[in-house]
Amino acid sequence: MSRIVVVSNRVPVPAGNAGHAGGLAVALLGLMQRRGGLWFGWSGAVTETAGGDHAPPAFAQRGAVGYATLDLTEAEHRGYYTGYSNGVLWPMLHALPHLMVFRRQDLETYRKVNHRFADNLVPLLRDDDRIWVHDYHLMSLPGALRAQGVDNPTGFFLHVPFPGPEAVAVAPGIRGLVQDVLASDLIGFQTATDRDNFAATATELAGAMRTGDQTMEMGGREVHLGVFPAEIAASEFAATAAAQVGLEPTRLLAQSLRGQALLLGIDRLDPTKGLPERLEAFRRVISRRPARSATMLQIAAPSREDVLAYRRLRAEVDSAAGSINSEFGEPDWLPLRLLARPQSRDTIAGFMRLAKVGLVTPLRDGMNLVAKEYVAAQDPADPGVLVLSRFAGAAAQLGSALLVNPHDAEGMAEAIHRALDMPLAERQERWWASWQAIAGATPEGWGEDFLRALTPDGLERLPVAGM
Ligand code: G6P
Repeated sequence: MSRIVVVSNRVPVPAGNAGHAGGLAVALLGLMQRRGGLWFGWSGAVTETAGGDHAPPAFAQRGAVGYATLDLTEAEHRGYYTGYSNGVLWPMLHALPHLMVFRRQDLETYRKVNHRFADNLVPLLRDDDRIWVHDYHLMSLPGALRAQGVDNPTGFFLHVPFPGPEAVAVAPGIRGLVQDVLASDLIGFQTATDRDNFAATATELAGAMRTGDQTMEMGGREVHLGVFPAEIAASEFAATAAAQVGLEPTRLLAQSLRGQALLLGIDRLDPTKGLPERLEAFRRVISRRPARSATMLQIAAPSREDVLAYRRLRAEVDSAAGSINSEFGEPDWLPLRLLARPQSRDTIAGFMRLAKVGLVTPLRDGMNLVAKEYVAAQDPADPGVLVLSRFAGAAAQLGSALLVNPHDAEGMAEAIHRALDMPLAERQERWWASWQAIAGATPEGWGEDFLRALTPDGLERLPVAGM
């Protein structure tokens, strides 16, 4: 069996590292621990090097997984991570172009860091390795590897959405990046819409040609496109949620509700998550229901605070939350609890089981695994209702949730009322359909599907219709 080399910006080196694992890292960790292999990426550290020299990668072996990580300099972090990845690509890919802040030197730094990743990775590669590159931080990497003569099977998976060509074209430098992604053998997406948008963009901006549902041609090479919706370990998460009900954090939360219905939102504090819109919907809901009948708990963990849009958002959300509580609160009751401090995944599983309504209403989201976790956490005998943005990738699989347009505050408020008042039989029916969509899948299965496709045989046999 060939060795798997995963490359991602975040690398979750277990213990001993200032670990920070996003959804991407959590999904891959199990697979890599079981299969073994090499995981390459950023250490998470920002260091200043004497004379601008770069240190070689640091190595750590944990069980079957070898980790090779690079520090970034301040300037690299500013240009590559904060500047171009999160200040240009992230807002563009989520169709929020007004949040883009472009500086030409950030694009330069983005390319340089991608090339530095390639320079340091190439000496570590073996002939039979399969290389799997992840997400929008590393769009230049497949091209950079090919330029160094690497001809190993190379896959790229985009965890975030990919909009249509007109929306993509607004990001300066994107044409070269799309060409670099097209140096891959297999490019994976969360939904069929993302795949088709990419194909249209590759045709219009990068001179590629679509030769089939799942294939394109670029410079005489065949590139395969596939749809691989990211998954969670649903049964495991369900068991965790059930077990948490008896434990302190969930018990204390339940007691504090004193019989009120709980509405729950769990997000990184990110402009794509639609938090001001969600709070506006909640304001409308609470203005029409009796005091002390429902409480919303919103956990919004600060994220990417070097990016101005994120700092502004925090102030906006704090202020909206304050005004809801001052307008509708009573001396003995506040309708909204807004917490910046993140909670552990296990604790969140318990909170989800308690919540009558799960609010997952991003303006746009690649998948949104919180939606799947909320479904998995429910008590089948008395399940809560998921209110889900139709612009989250998860909506393609969870059509039995109450689907909403997050830009329509009144429509969202109606859906929340409906969720709060929904009869048991309908809640059970909807939950069951959602559970069916996620129950059989695992993140390891998702990864294996991608890796199976990243072989000569697999590329020929890509599933015909993605979801
Ligand atoms: C999203 C991205 C990931 C990223 C995560 C956390 O899920 O798709 O690539 O790691 O957010 O964001 P951060 O900027 O902290 O890595």
